[in-house]
Amino acid sequence: MITKSASRAGFAAGTVKRLFPGLADRRLHYLDSAATAQMPDCVFEALRGFEIEARANVHEGLHRRARAATEAYNGARAQAARFLNAYSDQEVVFTYGATSAINLLAHSFGTLMVAGDEILLSVLEHHSNLTPWQTLAAQRGIVLRFLPMTPEGRLDLEALESRITDRCRLVALTHCSNVTGAVTDVAPVVAAARSVGAKVMLDGAQHVAHSPVDVRALGVDFYAFSGHKAFGPTGVGILWGRAALLATMPPFMTGGQMVETVTLGSARFRPPPRRFEAGTPPIAAAIGLGAALDWMQGLDWNAIREHEARLTRSLLGGLASIKGVRILGPLDLRLRTGVVSFCMEHVSPEEVCIQLDRKGVALRGGYHCAQPLFEVFRARGAARASVALYNVDVDVDALLEGVQELANSRAG
Ligand code: ALA
Repeated sequence: MITKSASRAGFAAGTVKRLFPGLADRRLHYLDSAATAQMPDCVFEALRGFEIEARANVHEGLHRRARAATEAYNGARAQAARFLNAYSDQEVVFTYGATSAINLLAHSFGTLMVAGDEILLSVLEHHSNLTPWQTLAAQRGIVLRFLPMTPEGRLDLEALESRITDRCRLVALTHCSNVTGAVTDVAPVVAAARSVGAKVMLDGAQHVAHSPVDVRALGVDFYAFSGHKAFGPTGVGILWGRAALLATMPPFMTGGQMVETVTLGSARFRPPPRRFEAGTPPIAAAIGLGAALDWMQGLDWNAIREHEARLTRSLLGGLASIKGVRILGPLDLRLRTGVVSFCMEHVSPEEVCIQLDRKGVALRGGYHCAQPLFEVFRARGAARASVALYNVDVDVDALLEGVQELANSRAG
């Protein structure tokens, strides 16, 4: 395992790959981790441990199994808080994914806004950080403004000054684009938001697999991500929010588990985070996610960053050398992660994926839930390869060979 102590012996992606039962088939070149990452052994163990030894409902139980379930669930909240460097466990809300985290924010924080207030988004956003705000805007007369992108597919932060006004209440941006791989330079965003008293939410779905997050250092107010992109199970996600802000926000969904007292006419809700966790939460998935985040925290991220950058350099260099391939995203490795989208002349993104699948290479193709971005690029979708810590050189080689063969077949 690439633990901090093991790092002295150097980084071995082949060794880490063996921790992932889902990657046991050597013929599989899994380059679709931006859609869903695989899970390490310790997550399976945490899921199995819960299901066998502690499966029960949380919070109100009066028997030992229910207490064990509650302890494990609360433990997962603490693990997530450590991963995020949150000020307190109580700032971590378990949701069903990044989409549900952002919808929670739109439906809750959004109700504190009035007609004429503004939200600053960007043209790079995944639909999950666009459509909830469109709905809110239509319902409440809120104005959406958009940061443009640079020609290479990064947020154009030079436009911050002109797009952020005194009416801005929230800046909601991707931390890392799921199409171009560009990583957002957060400090100028936070400074611009603070200058007008606006809050900042980062959609961290594409960032979390590439290092633990430090919400204090980022200086943001909210952070959303999905468990399954952070080596955890599907069906769980997290909304982190500053305690003082969460305390001002009304619930999004109501029901059991989140109330203090209920009469036939009204209800009094619990403080956060439980105010935002109506019904039985995704208990097992949250416990699995806690294990994944804990595992990530023990890794040597300097070594992993170097490893991912090396693979990404090969991927970008190899693709750029194939005639008819266009890369959508920055080429400078300091500005991006290993999410690499590309278009091929005369071959649709879907066909690229289907042909590459025949060679065992798993890619994703299409609009990647970011249609406005593709309008700016004037492209009808793209194929996307995404590198994670368990990928090895042969994965990249298999992709490049497959794309080269496809290009040759269409050229001839
Ligand atoms: N949101 C996921 C992606 O970008 C599915 O791949």
